[in-house]
Amino acid sequence: MNQAMFPASFMWGTATAAYQVEGNNRYSDFWAEEHAEGSPYRDKSGAAIDHYHLYREDIQLMAGLGLNTYRFSIEWARIEPERGQFSREATEHYRDMLQACHEHGLTPLVTLHHFSSPQWLMKLGGWASVEVVACFAAYTEWVMRELGDLIPYVMTFNEVNLPIMLREVFSTIGVIPPVGIDAAAWSAPAWRESAARLCGTTVERYFTFHMISDERSIDLLKQTHRRARAIIRQLRPETKVGFSMALSDVQYIPGGEAIAEQKWAAYFRTYADLAEGDDYFGLQNYTRQVYGSDGLVAPEEDAELTQMKYEFYPEALEKVIRRVADELKLPIIITEHGVATEDDTRRVEYIRRGLQGVQSCLADGIDVRGYMYWSAFDNFEWNSGYAMTFGMIGVDRSTQERTVKASGHYLGQIARSHNMRTPESAR
Ligand code: BGC
Repeated sequence: MNQAMFPASFMWGTATAAYQVEGNNRYSDFWAEEHAEGSPYRDKSGAAIDHYHLYREDIQLMAGLGLNTYRFSIEWARIEPERGQFSREATEHYRDMLQACHEHGLTPLVTLHHFSSPQWLMKLGGWASVEVVACFAAYTEWVMRELGDLIPYVMTFNEVNLPIMLREVFSTIGVIPPVGIDAAAWSAPAWRESAARLCGTTVERYFTFHMISDERSIDLLKQTHRRARAIIRQLRPETKVGFSMALSDVQYIPGGEAIAEQKWAAYFRTYADLAEGDDYFGLQNYTRQVYGSDGLVAPEEDAELTQMKYEFYPEALEKVIRRVADELKLPIIITEHGVATEDDTRRVEYIRRGLQGVQSCLADGIDVRGYMYWSAFDNFEWNSGYAMTFGMIGVDRSTQERTVKASGHYLGQIARSHNMRTPESAR
């Protein structure tokens, strides 16, 4: 194989999450958060980019670019709007979506849980409740029985470790409770009380996925993944199963060695054991974090920052792949790598430099199986609303018209040719 070539079997795709693109996920906890009194969410998701109705056109568009994979998620609250009541209509919807992928030559990689959970789960105590293991098992069983014949790759959870990272960033402003403090003792700000009420419960029971950062809830999440994996294996032994982590490249300057090591251990090793027995590891990377003796070091004054205020640093991808490959003997799929920018030439550059890193890993024999850019479309970026533009396809939300950006053509051409391209050759 030519050094510049990617393997013919390489998975090339984009990723989305149901809540961020479908629109009107009114039975999910995030809907309550958006609509809570005093909500810190910038926008309401509303109809989002109406992917719930436009998925066939969208899938065709992605396939037309030359991609061969589509990572998307199933919204648990649509499939099971009330505990134990499974929606036939929603199930058929996702069946048709999967079918559309297969018809267009896109391998579906299906995420069962991408941050949002049904509101009813909050009445049981959310992700702090022991019941979550059985609840998620029932949902997984339904999905695999009904749709498993069309699901070659499944991801139980998106970014299991994100809450641990958020805890450090947000504990001071009260979005995520500090470690070791149970939800009941945590004095939540008023908007969370309001969100809990909208879910039909009280703030003491309101424990969302983003709060899973204490030992007990981490253990419950691990049990939940293992139980779901056993169900998937039993019902569909041929389906590949895994989960993903958000991993920044953790670096240090002199004096920051110990903190950097401690951060990597907290962010990666807390959940690394959970991947043992999985079929692949979903790696998601956006930037780097640099530590000094006093903690996080801000990017240099002249550093290029993305809309998310992350340092533009596509080289992080290679470094994280190498680090993960040193510690985990599992095939790696890059299930997210993306940049929020208005300037699409920077997105092309970000992808180009990221993929150079992937090639260098492949050349060293590291088992990387695929690359999924986040995201297919400009979409609802959680509390940042529609202000962030991560997409390789732009969307005019007043008409829902899609426009492919140069970056979409660029990635598509690499996918078609299995080879790196110069940005110019992709126009
Ligand atoms: C999440 C996505 C999110 C993206 C960009 C990832 O952490 O999986 O849902 O939109 O990052 O911030």
